[in-house]
Amino acid sequence: MRNTRVVLTALGGPEVLKVIEDEIRDPAANEVRIKILTCGVAFADVLMRRGLYSPVPALPYSPGYDIVGTVESCGPVVTQWKPGDLVIALSMTGGYSRYIVLPESELVQMPAGLDPAEAVSLVLNYTTAYQLIHRIAKLRQGESVLIHGAAGGVGTAALQLGKLAGLKMFGTASKPKHDLVSALGGIPIDYRNEDFTKRAAGVDAVFDPIGGRNWLRSYSALGKGGRFIGYGMSAAIEGGRRNMLLAGASFTWLTLIKLFPGKSARWYSITTDKKAHPEWFREDLTRLLTMLQQKSISPIVSARLPLREAPRAHEMLERAAVTGKIVLMCQE
Ligand SMILES: NC(=O)c1ccc[n+]([C@@H]2O[C@H](COP(=O)([O-])OP(=O)(O)OC[C@H]3O[C@@H](n4cnc5c(N)ncnc54)[C@H](OP(=O)(O)O)[C@@H]3O)[C@@H](O)[C@H]2O)c1
Repeated sequence: MRNTRVVLTALGGPEVLKVIEDEIRDPAANEVRIKILTCGVAFADVLMRRGLYSPVPALPYSPGYDIVGTVESCGPVVTQWKPGDLVIALSMTGGYSRYIVLPESELVQMPAGLDPAEAVSLVLNYTTAYQLIHRIAKLRQGESVLIHGAAGGVGTAALQLGKLAGLKMFGTASKPKHDLVSALGGIPIDYRNEDFTKRAAGVDAVFDPIGGRNWLRSYSALGKGGRFIGYGMSAAIEGGRRNMLLAGASFTWLTLIKLFPGKSARWYSITTDKKAHPEWFREDLTRLLTMLQQKSISPIVSARLPLREAPRAHEMLERAAVTGKIVLMCQE
């Protein structure tokens, strides 16, 4: 069957993303071919494109961490799904495409009536934020948290979910995004001009996707019993591999400190945790879909772009020109 997809042909700037037409294979015995309605654009896609992420799949490949679509055809032993079913999945790669083939076990049922652009925002960003709050930091009502990148995709999700959990929240963001952080219930901190270690001193947890030196500073902001969770290295975009190495060294150091009482440090990765606890991912995403149905969460979709505009989506994400999530409309 013919397919249109966006592939990464080399490492580099957004221009290395190219639209191509090729054949998509039939699903194997326990696989499902999906017609993709929406795919999220993730900061990890940008880091992979620049070769600042590990592992980077062999080139050429299509990025695309999360998808919503309808089942188009099923392999011969698939019993759980049938053509027309609405599904949602963490694909990790391959989502920048009109069609994708995935194992049936990777799919989660999506309720009808949801906006596919809002729903796809739940897979990576909201599940990460939910797991950081409830599974990893195990924050309880009244506790405090410092959320870095608070106006971004994961950050806005963490603010919405943290508010529902009754947390006191500090959020770092550049100044023009402070109204959004406040509107979502956070206390904004201008990380370029203010010292977050002082403004948020004594917090119970820090969620840090920045990396580099930021990790050590975040750790120092924690109060007794505080939990540091590093889950990304956005700073690699500016500082390149040097910042990745620095983050790696900081993490080793922080993990050793865990041996001392009072504070803890750990790394979180949605993919590693999904492998370790597949039931968590399914349960949490299903819970978030119900919350979206009930309108208790409201993902911020800052741009809906046709599939072929993936390079523009990358360029916008890279210069932090957006709040919330950018979504590719894969049939447009
Ligand atoms: N480990 C996991 O499982 C996992 C899952 C999801 C995402 N992530 C990682 O989490 C990170 C964020 O993802 P995202 O989708 O939320 O990205 P995003 O939507 O691009 O948001 C990140 C925001 O952080 C802000 N920022 C940049 N430097 C900062 C700094 N030094 N301090 C505070 N804020 C800063 C930028 O906005 P302003 O500077 O304008 O405020 C940017 O818009 C990425 O590194 C991604 O790879 C990891």
